[in-house]
Amino acid sequence: MRTHDRLRIAIQKSGRIGDPARELLARAGFAFRQGQDKLFCRGESLPFDLLLVRDDDIPGLIEEGSADLGIVGLNLVEERRMETEPDRLRVRMPLGFGRCRLAIALPDLAEWRGPETLEGRRIATSYPVTLARWLQAEKVSAEVVQLSGSVEIAPRLGKADAICDLVSTGATLAANQLREAATVLESEAVLVGPEPPFTDGRADLAALLERRLQGALGLRATRLLLCQAPRDALPAILGLLGDAEPPTVTRIEGRDDAVSLQALCRSAMTWQRLEDIKRAGASGLLVLPVEQMLA
Ligand code: PRP
Ligand code: ZN
Repeated sequence: MRTHDRLRIAIQKSGRIGDPARELLARAGFAFRQGQDKLFCRGESLPFDLLLVRDDDIPGLIEEGSADLGIVGLNLVEERRMETEPDRLRVRMPLGFGRCRLAIALPDLAEWRGPETLEGRRIATSYPVTLARWLQAEKVSAEVVQLSGSVEIAPRLGKADAICDLVSTGATLAANQLREAATVLESEAVLVGPEPPFTDGRADLAALLERRLQGALGLRATRLLLCQAPRDALPAILGLLGDAEPPTVTRIEGRDDAVSLQALCRSAMTWQRLEDIKRAGASGLLVLPVEQMLA
């Protein structure tokens, strides 16, 4: 039995989700020592360790307790959750990268008249449970052909009439003369843990990890805006700062008609946006990057 004073995070060894996941953990201040076997990396200063695995294995590792938390595509979590009853996985936090969709795709020349086109057809996929649910919701009866990989070549091999697979840029579909017809599930990387959640020492560690991740994720676009403005221009300026935390407005010594304003803005501060704020009456605009933040 493992003790609960360290937390083990499973991530994909390398690839579409694994690489950005490691980058995110590094930005959040987690450093790991590469293990001899390259599968287990011990945390250097914080009680968090990394398990480097195949992404498809992550939901199962969490269910059986070999890993405490994981960073993985929502598509894999959903497939697993629909399979098990009751739920044994909990999505704790969306991470905003690895966006893609699980989609139905057909050979370029095949006709598409909506989901009923699939009636009586064979659909190849690595996501049989998610696909079966979707077909049921669409009231279509089709044959689900389960494949563990290379789903996109199934139509050419005569094994299926359509596929249901992940699409990110669409390059894989295009290279296989397939076109996207319908979305089954929108996906992105998520932080996932067990259901029910921890009640031991790992609860605090998980909360610490989440705070750090939130801080690191927020930083990418976050800017601190400083400016001055006539008091009566304030409503118009605040209207342009919809994404900001409630701004701090302070009086300027010796001037009753103007204020100084400080706002933490969550989305990109483009030149266009700055000019709009200036036009609304602001002056002396300063946009500063935010180096660290503890949510
Ligand atoms: C998915 C999917 C396709 C590819 C689509 O694989 O199975 O092969 O990505 O991406 P594209 O639209 O940008 O071409 P994934 O990255 O999940 O790898 P895996 O199936 O090997 O885990
Ligand atoms: Zn995979």
